[in-house]
Amino acid sequence: MQISNQNLNGKVALITGAAGGIGLAIASLYLINGAKVMLTDYPKKPPHSILALVQDYPSNAFYIGCDVANAQSVDSLIEETYSHFKALDILVNNAAVFDLAPITEATEESFDRLFSINVKALFFMMQKVANNMIEHETKGKIINMASQAGRRGEALVSHYCATKAAVISYTQSAALGLAKYNITVNAISPGVIDTPMWKEVDALFAKYEHLEIGEKKRAVGESVPLGYMGRPEEVASLALFLGSEGANYITAQTYNVDGGNVMS
Ligand SMILES: NC(=O)c1ccc[n+]([C@@H]2O[C@H](COP(=O)([O-])OP(=O)(O)OC[C@H]3O[C@@H](n4cnc5c(N)ncnc54)[C@H](O)[C@@H]3O)[C@@H](O)[C@H]2O)c1
Repeated sequence: MQISNQNLNGKVALITGAAGGIGLAIASLYLINGAKVMLTDYPKKPPHSILALVQDYPSNAFYIGCDVANAQSVDSLIEETYSHFKALDILVNNAAVFDLAPITEATEESFDRLFSINVKALFFMMQKVANNMIEHETKGKIINMASQAGRRGEALVSHYCATKAAVISYTQSAALGLAKYNITVNAISPGVIDTPMWKEVDALFAKYEHLEIGEKKRAVGESVPLGYMGRPEEVASLALFLGSEGANYITAQTYNVDGGNVMS
């Protein structure tokens, strides 16, 4: 039997947080490899980064603005994705937000925001898409974006680390619960990847560790065993494999894409 590790011809993918960074890189790679892609992010109108993709792939790329933390908007997003492309085969649950503060100062407001987007929205997006896949007897693939921050705690990053540990745990439970429907669920655990998120991450570390702007970002890149911050495309290549038939027998796993930072 021939199976492809890269070909997504005719597959329909829904990608959250697609306006930049890792989500945009996954959307581009999926489109290059024949997928039809529903891109979604906060803004109501497609941001510039996405407009270019929609122009390059007018039949295969479509954008809908949606706050993934709003359950009603998510219901419409999933319905519109299915009715636009007449299928929904792959979910890339990528949208997330970051924050940090010393454990003695980390706030309830920050906890609520991070858990609402990184965990609650991710879980219910996964549940709603899985129900769509079950209804249509789709052998679907769900890919959740975790983080090396979910592998161990960090003194300044308690809320974010906890949300990403929850992503790894929900990935495992959902994979076991959905296996009987031939739906696989896996997660990707990036290390430090050079995306727009790092502007905020670097500025927050600068504030609490009394660093110059850019110093933290440079230091984390240099400390990676492979010697540099990853590029979004280097995460997208694993998302391509996990969305392909080549990954049919893989479920409940979390894969590191981190230049050697974490060994597990
Ligand atoms: N960049 C890294 O070093 C790194 C490391 C580990 C994990 N990650 C994870 O990878 C994923 C992508 O991160 P990135 O670095 O590309 O970040 P990013 O900030 O560039 O992209 C995240 C996207 O999610 C969107 N988003 C946030 N909240 C949303 C909401 N409520 N509704 C809809 N869209 C929303 C943002 O608008 C943004 O476009 C995230 O899950 C992040 O936690 C990133």
